[in-house]
Amino acid sequence: MSSSPDWDVIILGAGASGLMCAATAGRRGRRVMVVDHARRAGEKIRVSGGGRCNFTHLKASAHHYLSDPASDPNFPQAALKAFTPKAFLDLLGRHGISHHEKTPGQLFCDHSAEQVVAMLLAECQRSKVKVLLEQTIQQVTALPSGFRVQTAQGTWTTRALVVALGGRSMPKLGATPLGYEIARQFGLRIVPTRPGLTPLSFGGDIRESCRDLTGLSVQATVTCQSARFTDDLLFTHRGLSGPVILQISSHWRGGEAITVDLTPGVAIYPLLKQAREREPGLNLRTIVSRFLPKRLALQRIALAGGDGRMAEIADKRLQLAAELVNQWRVTPNGTGGFDRAEVTVGGVDTRALDPHTLACPSVPGLYCIGEVVDVTGWLGGFNLQWAWSSGHAAGSAV
Ligand code: FDA
Repeated sequence: MSSSPDWDVIILGAGASGLMCAATAGRRGRRVMVVDHARRAGEKIRVSGGGRCNFTHLKASAHHYLSDPASDPNFPQAALKAFTPKAFLDLLGRHGISHHEKTPGQLFCDHSAEQVVAMLLAECQRSKVKVLLEQTIQQVTALPSGFRVQTAQGTWTTRALVVALGGRSMPKLGATPLGYEIARQFGLRIVPTRPGLTPLSFGGDIRESCRDLTGLSVQATVTCQSARFTDDLLFTHRGLSGPVILQISSHWRGGEAITVDLTPGVAIYPLLKQAREREPGLNLRTIVSRFLPKRLALQRIALAGGDGRMAEIADKRLQLAAELVNQWRVTPNGTGGFDRAEVTVGGVDTRALDPHTLACPSVPGLYCIGEVVDVTGWLGGFNLQWAWSSGHAAGSAV
């Protein structure tokens, strides 16, 4: 740039990470502009947590995030430590936003997610950050020192450029793959993306057995490769959903089977054998219904060859019934896709970024933050905490 740039920092994306980054950099006296194509900033924050924004999890640490196996699993830790869930709580406190703990560590606003958006915009305004909406980003160009950003509405130069364009999930909320395209343009590797925190669908008999139980919810432990979660499972007309399935879906890859334990912590085979000794006159359905909702128990028994008096049921059938309860192994035929996924797994390879600043050392002045980076949190407030922490890290460095 021959003359001084128009801005110290241009942030692409007025979502969770972009607004946090803007407020942080603005507070440090940087001249910051945020550019977004949406009509309103922070659309995903607004719908998050069912409108109450599950804005963090108090236990957030690198352990709760998924990245490419070839990258450093501790990558998120530096940013998470520098801007903790407590730091975000302090910010909410300064804005008088009350919250509650839904499950241990999982925090939601008492009133509305809208308050979080308003807080971030107020912080931006106080730091004189310019938030420019309804911009169609056309081109981003590297200059000898800095960048040029061209939208259909204007062209600006900047010393630092922050890519905060989010992932591919929920295009109806404004998601596009532009963040990955810009990263690729600057030579960064993109870990292949796939939907995360999404329902799983099934075909054939399994789909039918799930459909028959639509709306039923039970606690379950679900395993896929080395990942394992225990939480509520919901049967749907397409397959399985509920928190435990959303969690495991981020780890699932096409073709793999998942194993579902419908009575976590209770191995029922020995209990069925014991019941046959002690209560030989009772029906299998009566015994299995002690452990499962009746509809589900009846279905498991039907799949295991039907009901009968305990005294007349051979070991093999008891074993099959127990397997269908404790080790129900099923292979999804797909996910809810990006239309129904809460997050995107994959993204900008963390090996291209400095964990303390989210800067890209190979392209001076370029930063990538939030969901566009290959850091995917568990369900429970971890993704927004990553957005706040990574946004703060870059905002403190630009
Ligand atoms: P984010 O998606 O917030 O922002 C990206 C911005 O870039 C958007 O404003 C978008 O308009 C803009 N953009 C994209 N493409 C563009 C283009 N081509 N041109 C210009 N602008 C463009 N997490 C959590 O921790 N707790 C929760 O309760 C929930 N709940 C939840 C519900 C639902 C329905 C969804 C879809 C997601 C969640 N999440 C969540 C996930 C969380 O919302 C998400 O991880 C963060 O918003 C990511 O923040 P980013 O800033 O990276 O992207």
